[in-house]
Formats: sequence, C-alpha cells, structure tokens
Amino acid sequence: MTDFIHEFVRGKSERTLLLLHGTGGNERDLIPIGRELDPDASLLSPRGKTLENGRPRFFRRLAEGVFDLEDLRNRTSELADFVSSAAQHYEIDGQKIVAAGYSNGANIAAGMLLLRPEILSAAILFRAMVPLVPETTPDLTARRILISEGDHDPIVSAAEAGRLAGLLRNAGADVTIRFFPSGHGLTSDDVDLAREWLSKLE
Ligand code: MLT
Repeated sequence: MTDFIHEFVRGKSERTLLLLHGTGGNERDLIPIGRELDPDASLLSPRGKTLENGRPRFFRRLAEGVFDLEDLRNRTSELADFVSSAAQHYEIDGQKIVAAGYSNGANIAAGMLLLRPEILSAAILFRAMVPLVPETTPDLTARRILISEGDHDPIVSAAEAGRLAGLLRNAGADVTIRFFPSGHGLTSDDVDLAREWLSKLE
C-alpha cells in the first residue's frame, strides 16, 4: 500500500467514508464527525503529506486560494492510488467510497472527482472551492455530491462555490448545494445536513 499515515476504522456496512481534513489537521480530526455522519460505515482517514509551515495539507498552495496545480495533480493521483490500494488491503468495497472533506480536504476530494472520477461514488464537500478546471470533462453521471458552504466565508465566495457546482453538474453529477449563515468553520448545521443527505444515499 502507498504510504500515507492514516487511520482505518472498520464499520458494519459496505460503505466507507474517506475523511479528508483541512489545513493543519491530521488523520484523527474527522473521525468523530465521520461516525456522526454514518455510524455504520468504515472510516479511512489519511493525513495530507504536504507541510505548510509544519501544518499538513493535501497539496501545495502559492497563496490563499492560489494552488500549485502541478503539485495538486500529482497529489490527487497519489491519494487516489492510496485509496484504491487501501480498498484492496482492507477488503472494502471500492464502489462504495464516499469522500467527506473539509476545506483543503474538500478541495482535494473535488480534485479527485475531476481527475480520478472512478475512485469516489459520492462526496460531501464542506467549504470547497474549484481546485482546478480539468482539460477533459470527466464523466460524473450517477455521482451524488453535496456542497455545504458558509454565507460569510472569507475564503470561499458564493460565486466560487457556484462555479464548483456548475463544473460538477456539467460533468453529469447530481449536485446539491446549501449555504448556512456561517463562516469557513464547520458547524453542527453542516454535519446535520450531511448526515440527512447521506442517509438517503443508496
Ligand atoms: C486550500 O488551500 O485548500 C483552501 O484555501 C482552504 C484552506 O486550506 O484554507
């Protein structure tokens, strides 16, 4: 298996939540939220390998919201390879992997949808932006995606969030986008919405 520091918690159902933390987080951050989102799913939670002033991220950025696209492409592919080898290693169903990412983790999850669409069957993107515009439009038919944003987010504007929803819809995904009266931080409203949305997913 490719080397990502990670946590794996085996669940009772066939679904696995791929938990992707925000900048400065680690593999343990989203485990409690993952359990709240789905008490029965397995949880796979890697730690981002890029360090920004010692703070883990999933890919490099040049400035706030300005991404190093070459690094983003390479890191997306590396993470996608890790997820598929982890699926084999832990004998989980590779067709039932749902990403749940926050901020930088949501951005690499969106990157995976756009560049390696075979990895994820669905995704929950908390406070996500457009990571990149792919050269070829992926086929995201039958992929369900929830985008949950904050009205007062100083990092992700409503226009940016709308652009992400448009990009994913244009690729055929079934996208739900919601805004809450909050900032960039995750709130219980986001978690409640995502739990409800996930409970209706096949
Ligand atoms: C990013 O760099 O992915 C976004 O700016 C979100 C963040 O990590 O602050």
